[in-house]
Amino acid sequence: MYKEQLTTDRLPEHVAIIMDGNGRWAKKQGLARVFGHQKGVETVHEITTAAAELGLKYLTLYTFSTENWNRPKEEVDAIMTLLVDTIAKERPTLMKNNVRLLTIGDTNRLPDEARKKYLQLIDDTAGNTGLSLVLALSYSSRWEITEAMKRIAHKVESGEMKADDITEQTLTDNMTTACIPDPDLLIRTSGEYRISNFLLWQLAYSEMYFTDCYWPEFTREEFYKALVDYAQRERRFGKTSEQIQK
Ligand code: IPE
Ligand code: IPE
Ligand code: MG
Repeated sequence: MYKEQLTTDRLPEHVAIIMDGNGRWAKKQGLARVFGHQKGVETVHEITTAAAELGLKYLTLYTFSTENWNRPKEEVDAIMTLLVDTIAKERPTLMKNNVRLLTIGDTNRLPDEARKKYLQLIDDTAGNTGLSLVLALSYSSRWEITEAMKRIAHKVESGEMKADDITEQTLTDNMTTACIPDPDLLIRTSGEYRISNFLLWQLAYSEMYFTDCYWPEFTREEFYKALVDYAQRERRFGKTSEQIQK
């Protein structure tokens, strides 16, 4: 059992997950892709609860990418309907577990009903002080960086700041993740080894963990396994091992 191997001082503060493999999981069972997304929501429930119980501070879930808008209309519609259903269903769990919901991404692109209910739930959980659950919804990193650049350019244009005053911190502060620390650990399920336009700026020094598990079959135990793996790593941030151990 991996959970017993976890010690609180070696836990990441922020875990980000690329939840991939819903469609292939469904196909394997001879089901339509949408069933994979439905089952995937159950995994979201499990992993969010596990993260809250462990006392993690941030869990960011890549839920729907900018590029995912290009999927067949039936699938996009089904995912948006699922979002509305899930908001209603999960509200009590979020409140019970003291989870604060945050969003990164272009919420304006969501259909009206989904957007309203989603923003309402974010508002309703704003006072919760436990885990921050960040959904990357209609999100892509290049979209985010482009928007950040525009904001900074406007400030320079209006004379609010000088071009030479732009620092790394300026970019960090203008990302949608401005109030969120960088992920310590990135997990991607489904055996794919790529980032798919997720948090390119923020993942600069994150530890990476890949598993062949499809998202609908990613259990708590698989999650704990990833955390145990993370706990054994030495994060050097460009320094030498000797400097770190001092
Ligand atoms: C991840 O599963 C969920 C979303 C991208 C919305 P996929 O739907 O990408 O599943 P696969 O990768 O096709 O199996
Ligand atoms: C990444 O998965 C996006 C989400 C998990 C929401 P994709 O399935 O869209 O990524 P690619 O297309 O395989 O790179
Ligand atoms: Mg996929």
